[in-house]
Amino acid sequence: MQTHDTDGLVTIGDYIRWAASRFQANALHFGHGTDNAIDEAAALVLGSLHLPPDLHSDYFGCRLTRAEQAALSAQIAERIESRRPVAYLLGQAWFCGLAFAVNEHVLIPRSPIAEMIEAGFSPWLDTTEVHRIADVGTGSGCIAIACALAFPDAQVDALDNSAPAVALATRNAAEHGVEDQVSASQSDWLSAIEPQPLLDLIVSNPPYVDAKAMANLPAEYQHEPQAALAAGRDGLDAVRAILPQAAERLSEHGILVCEIGHGQAAFTQAFPDLAVTWVSFARGGEGVFVVDGATLRAAFAATDGSAGTG
Ligand SMILES: C[S@@+](CC[C@H](N)C(=O)[O-])C[C@H]1O[C@@H](n2cnc3c(N)ncnc32)[C@H](O)[C@@H]1O
Repeated sequence: MQTHDTDGLVTIGDYIRWAASRFQANALHFGHGTDNAIDEAAALVLGSLHLPPDLHSDYFGCRLTRAEQAALSAQIAERIESRRPVAYLLGQAWFCGLAFAVNEHVLIPRSPIAEMIEAGFSPWLDTTEVHRIADVGTGSGCIAIACALAFPDAQVDALDNSAPAVALATRNAAEHGVEDQVSASQSDWLSAIEPQPLLDLIVSNPPYVDAKAMANLPAEYQHEPQAALAAGRDGLDAVRAILPQAAERLSEHGILVCEIGHGQAAFTQAFPDLAVTWVSFARGGEGVFVVDGATLRAAFAATDGSAGTG
């Protein structure tokens, strides 16, 4: 274990500053909810101290106990040496202003879809007609649970083919008090759910990293399940499976919201005739499209089921 002289460090602000300096000096990669050393350091220090992630800076002068200092020094060293993302070190990540338990069986929540959930999927969704929702590739259950809280009258299927992910989504649903609303189950995409009633909203942040990017992932991402990231040569394997299933299962007014990251050009090449709308985000993020069920049905009925060249 690396040692550093931390004798002069006493306050929350001291530890955030010191951690940020160590992170910067060791060229860590930031991509799990932060994009710079200061924010990453604040996430680790505040999370370790069980303080809210948006703690007012008035508290940064508060002093730490010796036990807190020792625990933080160890976590800062581990972040540097193992490259484990902060959320795995703490066992917790934030999404839509909610805390979720995470472990190395699930992706660390960070989808820009959070912003759409907070806006009730306006202007894409008729919110008076949201009775059943599916979150496809649910991981920790963050999207499914945030949707359940945003649409308290809707039932939500939280689907994943990973058993440990389903277990964690179940636990998170209970911790947020929505266990009666969210049903987490093991499913290959949408295949295992009851076909009726049809779905008013399908949300998915599926794996979408292409083979070239997978081969060059920073060490931090190698702690995440590869099955949550990798999606074949062009990053569209998961989307190719989800689109025709969504076409069959969306209600009359239903929509699919799907994230594919940097894959917009590949998507347009694979599905040249599928008219989707790409969403703009105020807080950053890209590669999320919206398409309605009627458009999907027309596209997939008109072809052999592939609706494209992909
Ligand atoms: C990018 S992660 C998204 C997790 C979560 N929705 C989030 O935004 O944090 C993709 C998820 O899809 C799941 N997955 C991969 N292949 C699947 C399949 N064939 N059927 C269902 N889920 C699958 C992975 O286990 C992983 O949990």
